[in-house]
Amino acid sequence: MLDVLNPLAVDPILTLTLECNSDTNPNKVDLGAGVYKNEAGHTPIMKAVDTAEKQWYQQETSKVYVGSAGAAGFNEAIMRLLLGSDHAAVLDRRVVGIQTPGGCGALSIAGHLIKRCYGSVQREGTVWVSAPTWANHIPLLSDCGLSLKEYRYYDGESHTLDFPAMMEDLSKSKANDIVLLHGCCHNPSGADLNQEQWQLIAELLNEKGVVPFVDIAYQGLGDGLDEDAWGLRYLAEHCPEVIIASSCSKNFGLYRERVGSVFVVAKDSQVAEINKGQLMNIARGIYSMPPHYGAALVDIILHDLQLREQWQEELTFMRERIAGLRTRFVQKLNAAGAASRFDYIEQEKGMFSFLGISMDQVRALKEQYSIYMVNSSRMNIAGLSDKNMDYVVQALMQTL
Ligand SMILES: Cc1ncc(COP(=O)(O)O)c(C=O)c1O
Repeated sequence: MLDVLNPLAVDPILTLTLECNSDTNPNKVDLGAGVYKNEAGHTPIMKAVDTAEKQWYQQETSKVYVGSAGAAGFNEAIMRLLLGSDHAAVLDRRVVGIQTPGGCGALSIAGHLIKRCYGSVQREGTVWVSAPTWANHIPLLSDCGLSLKEYRYYDGESHTLDFPAMMEDLSKSKANDIVLLHGCCHNPSGADLNQEQWQLIAELLNEKGVVPFVDIAYQGLGDGLDEDAWGLRYLAEHCPEVIIASSCSKNFGLYRERVGSVFVVAKDSQVAEINKGQLMNIARGIYSMPPHYGAALVDIILHDLQLREQWQEELTFMRERIAGLRTRFVQKLNAAGAASRFDYIEQEKGMFSFLGISMDQVRALKEQYSIYMVNSSRMNIAGLSDKNMDYVVQALMQTL
């Protein structure tokens, strides 16, 4: 029976990481995988996490099951981090959520919830995703049995967010459709919606009866913890229903511990409770319960004033480091004769930007200079450092 399956290509980002790891060139630069790196090219354990780990070893007394919703303290703290403690939807008890295995787990559980809703209303809606979007959105949501359509988002020619095109495409959405939005630090483009655009989207979705689904995997790495959640908070205030997938992989550096959460903002607290039961039931049927360890660490950090402050300082340092790299990269490119071609990179947010070069040029950078990035020319800005930046600038200018 197992011999009926066809071989599949390995995930290109994972392949790229393996290729980079086995490259012996001492000058190699990894701008591929979406993980934060420090000046030494290392993805460190945050100090606040390290302290929380030591505390946890002291206080953990049992490995007994925690349940399908995961750690209650974690869920509550993340809800408040995302929406703010005084958000109307929180005060009205219209927000429910469960801990999930990473942001991917959250997206998948949300996808299954949407599919169940379509089953109940006997109408298959469409999930609209940005073009481009994070590559894994497509299989994650399609595998829940959902039909996806793209809305135009980023114009690769002008390197700008094409908001009129986005609105034009979304105006074709229908009641009960879902629109997946990146809460901040759009992956792969780094081009984010401004406040006015979030407001116009809320208006359009309400008019159409469409539900926003916000994936927020980089809170704190764009403009700040509150600033990065502005759009999400606005939608949760002005739209009757919102679905949220969140991740602690990047902003707590807990990648391999698989820490995420899925939330539903419902019309009223009764509907919210029903949805919580559904979320738990979906989780129970797939993996039963999320891993506890990473969420326990986040729980400790967010409930300890000193540790929380330390975590925020570390996150601020990471955010400012990325912003500084953006500025210096653009300056150096211009000094090397780029004639403002890459100036947009300075304005973009979070870890990613497109270089806007061809696949052949991406390949040339890899083969001739051991500089690794994905074929679309999305680069992880955090992979730059003051040590490797001149090398990357020279290689890029010669490749152009
Ligand atoms: C846009 C986006 N959403 C969600 C995730 C999920 O991250 P994880 O499952 O590692 O928490 C990522 C990770 O790269 C991402 O870029």
